[in-house]
Amino acid sequence: MEHLIDIAQLSTDEVDALIRKAEDIIANPAKYADICRGKTLATLFFEPSTRTRLSFEAAMYGLGGNVLGFSEAQSSSASKGESVSDTAKTVSCYADIIAMRHPKEGAPLVASMAASVPVINAGDGGHNHPTQTLTDLLTIHKEKGRLDNLTIGFCGDLKFGRTVHSLITAISRYKNIRVVLISPDELKLPSYIKKDVLQKNNIEYAQTTDLEAVMPELDILYMTRVQRERFFNEEDYLRLKDSYILTKEKLSGAKSDMAILHPLPRVNEISVAIDEDPRACYFRQVLYGKFIRMALILKLLGLEA
Ligand code: CP
Repeated sequence: MEHLIDIAQLSTDEVDALIRKAEDIIANPAKYADICRGKTLATLFFEPSTRTRLSFEAAMYGLGGNVLGFSEAQSSSASKGESVSDTAKTVSCYADIIAMRHPKEGAPLVASMAASVPVINAGDGGHNHPTQTLTDLLTIHKEKGRLDNLTIGFCGDLKFGRTVHSLITAISRYKNIRVVLISPDELKLPSYIKKDVLQKNNIEYAQTTDLEAVMPELDILYMTRVQRERFFNEEDYLRLKDSYILTKEKLSGAKSDMAILHPLPRVNEISVAIDEDPRACYFRQVLYGKFIRMALILKLLGLEA
């Protein structure tokens, strides 16, 4: 049995195989429509979600399987004080695979040590969100046709943004990647990621507060939300929340084929006027999330079409 807790657990060969599998599922959905018959996915979400939970559920239904679970801690026995380990042991009696989101960093890892079925981290606090990263990689591959030779700008909350941390880790393993970090000083990428990922892999990177100045260099612009739920202080959130709002005017200096990604939800950081721009990939990215999760479920259950 395997779990997926951190994107770094997957080799680039394994990531590339998942992308190939997802692309085959997109091309041949009927081939996979019954492959999980009799299998059950449990979605244990201790923190709110729209895309991750529903795309996992859509993925399992698309494979012919069943789904059970809960979408908030309050409706589970966690509200009575049950531990993550006991929850994981219990759910292992009902399901063949578990997807867990939790506000505490490390909770899905704890669950994986207690569960007797594969556990997938569906986002743990400000730490990691590996299936969003697989979604982002599939999106980049579909939109740009490659995962190497890219300059990627990460913009917004780079401090708490778990999707940013995971994607930087994954993309740094490909050739000729350049990273541009665009954030207010208070929301800079944590030093440990610069040291352990960017510097360790000899990735060229730059830091700036000025999005428009670097826009012409970017092949991909990865926008993020300033996350209210990660702030201890409402005043700081209100001061920083609108640091970057992508508008048509700000896009004027961008490459004609730059891809705009966003893990969503969006609050205010991308003007809705941009949604019709062919460079806006974020709703296609949502759809790719279902297909890559189908591929991951098959891998962790050891099922082949
Ligand atoms: N991208 C993402 O994790 O979205 P949700 O919070 O809606 O699952």
